[in-house]
Amino acid sequence: MRINTLEQLKEQRIQAEKTIQNRIFGQPSARPEVLIGMATCGIAAGAGEVKEAIEEELERLKLTDIKIVPVGCIGYCHSEPLVQVNLPGQPPVLYGNVDAAKAREIVKGHLVGQQLLADGITEPNFERVNLEEAKAFEPTGQRKQLRIALRNCGVIDPTSIDEYIAGHGYEALGKALTQMTPETVIDTVKRSGLRGRGGGGFPTGLKWEFTRKSRPGVQKYIFCNADEGDPGAFMDRSVLEGDPHSVLEAMAIGGYAIGASTGVIYIRAEYPLAIKRLKTAIAQAKEYGLLGGNLFGTGFNFDIELRYGAGAFVCGEETSLINSAEGKRGEPSNKPPFPSESGFWGQPTCVNNVETYANVAPIILNGGDWFAAIGTERSKGTKVFALAGKVNNVGLVEVPMGTTLREIIYEIGGGIKDGHRFKAVQTGGPSGGVITEDYLDTPIDYESLKAIDSIMGSGGMIVMDETDCMVNIAKYYLEFTQDESCGKCTPCRVGTKRLHEILERITEGKAEMADIDKLTKLARTIKDAALCGLGQTAPNPVLSTLKFFENEYLQHIQEHYCATGSCKALVKYSIDKERCIGCTACAKACPVKCISGEVKKVHAIDQTKCIQCGACFTTCKFGAVIKP
Ligand SMILES: Cc1cc2nc3c(=O)[nH]c(=O)nc-3n(C[C@H](O)[C@H](O)[C@H](O)COP(=O)(O)O)c2cc1C
Ligand code: SF4
Ligand code: SF4
Ligand code: SF4
Repeated sequence: MRINTLEQLKEQRIQAEKTIQNRIFGQPSARPEVLIGMATCGIAAGAGEVKEAIEEELERLKLTDIKIVPVGCIGYCHSEPLVQVNLPGQPPVLYGNVDAAKAREIVKGHLVGQQLLADGITEPNFERVNLEEAKAFEPTGQRKQLRIALRNCGVIDPTSIDEYIAGHGYEALGKALTQMTPETVIDTVKRSGLRGRGGGGFPTGLKWEFTRKSRPGVQKYIFCNADEGDPGAFMDRSVLEGDPHSVLEAMAIGGYAIGASTGVIYIRAEYPLAIKRLKTAIAQAKEYGLLGGNLFGTGFNFDIELRYGAGAFVCGEETSLINSAEGKRGEPSNKPPFPSESGFWGQPTCVNNVETYANVAPIILNGGDWFAAIGTERSKGTKVFALAGKVNNVGLVEVPMGTTLREIIYEIGGGIKDGHRFKAVQTGGPSGGVITEDYLDTPIDYESLKAIDSIMGSGGMIVMDETDCMVNIAKYYLEFTQDESCGKCTPCRVGTKRLHEILERITEGKAEMADIDKLTKLARTIKDAALCGLGQTAPNPVLSTLKFFENEYLQHIQEHYCATGSCKALVKYSIDKERCIGCTACAKACPVKCISGEVKKVHAIDQTKCIQCGACFTTCKFGAVIKP
């Protein structure tokens, strides 16, 4: 089947939305449905077995009318696997931590028995932009999350183009091609204030304009950067797994705006499910005539191809990405020339991030002003964060710009795990810095985060508690960046190695006070002298932990003491005489047999033989083994 006009697309939507429309509006569907979160996070947690159990149970009970819909990430990664039950005339109910047994219970109790089981959630903690009513859509602010980029994730079956079309999919492309000039598309995106979500925050409309105006008439390319190399970040993967068509549609719109007939998605091969879903989506869009030749009968041709990365952080940097896509070594080139002047095969090329694209269709459908009304003065719209670390509700979070870190960590994230205390939050991954308690009320936008020496980055957000050692955290990031340095320039290749060595000395208690000075000077030099963003930002975790937690560095150097017990070489295990009941468990667990003591008598550790493995610490049920 081929869709040649906007009218035909709308007819297709009316057909498709009969099954899905109600689901998108948050109402129960006309037909009973079971939605299962089948993104990488869900599958890793066991969603496959849950799906099988539900299928078996439905078959056993001969319930043939119930539809099972595998959807992308619902966002509550902390409670995966997730199952949502939609019954006609009732609000949707979401169940978390579902295993095969619980899945069978849901079928019998809820689907057949029509009874809400005790732990079902009927009110999600987020609002979704409803494209039908988007212009008049007013976020209530009662729920902190607002989903624009993630509007379809966890709702539609990502392998069904019809489900995407049911939610007004490809209408923005139809509108752009048939009712707007490339210039008005660019103006709309400029008006929206959309800035790149890949880390740099460059205005998207402006980048499109530069590429359009660059060397008129020549072959141009539009790229999607799906490399996502930041440790702890999984926003882009979730969008691609949960709503791949939103990216394809936006790339076609961008292609039309800048004058490109070819789009390239550069994606790391470590994302097999996202690749599979993209391939399915591309094939479906081609079959419907929404990619390929003469789109919407306008004569505009646009195709998309995939290029795979081998999982190097530096390949996310745009010039490096282009080199890698051309089959060259994935190392950055000097800028200028910028890709908008000379990029893929020397032609003008526009590189945008996955999440940036996910915002484009709603902007075209609802207008730039609609998007610009959400967010702060200079940062418009929403931002998706991958909330991870020592927080109760880890997962995907999308909030209007201007939401505070406290709201994200405490209201959405449910506070710090296991009753521990908040210590810091790292935003921007290895390119960013730590933010302390004093700044938790900072509204999140590009400028505010920069002002407190961190960055928005691509949206990784790792929460730390008092058991985390900040020197160790800095060492972890430096280990990552020195490992990922492409080696092209000396400040980064050698500098990050030396930085890491100093940090290692500190965590081993072998450093001197002069090392702090060396660390600072070297960090500043690398920032100034490195060729690309990887090296220029690599010292940030060091500088920011030094700024806020200098006392920890000093403790390691002067007292050979790590208050959290994270630095293995500085940990000294001992036994608390008051607590030890002489159960002998620690002595049995010790691999080097350096714990002595008789049954029911206080035990002791021979410090000269202890290898600091921690087995006694984890074995003792009485809290009698203490560290550091
Ligand atoms: C070391 C390094 C890694 C990067 N990794 C990514 C990435 O994984 N994804 C991404 O979209 N941008 C990444 N960027 C930013 C890109 O160079 C580029 O700015 C971005 O893809 C532009 O898209 P946007 O304007 O939509 O954000 C990285 C930059 C650097 C310096
Ligand atoms: S800064 Fe690092 S990653 Fe960038 S070009 Fe230099 S060596 Fe390569
Ligand atoms: S396991 Fe704990 S209580 Fe038992 S002997 Fe060792 S220190 Fe004492
Ligand atoms: S830390 Fe390991 S080696 Fe040391 S006393 Fe405990 S169990 Fe033995």
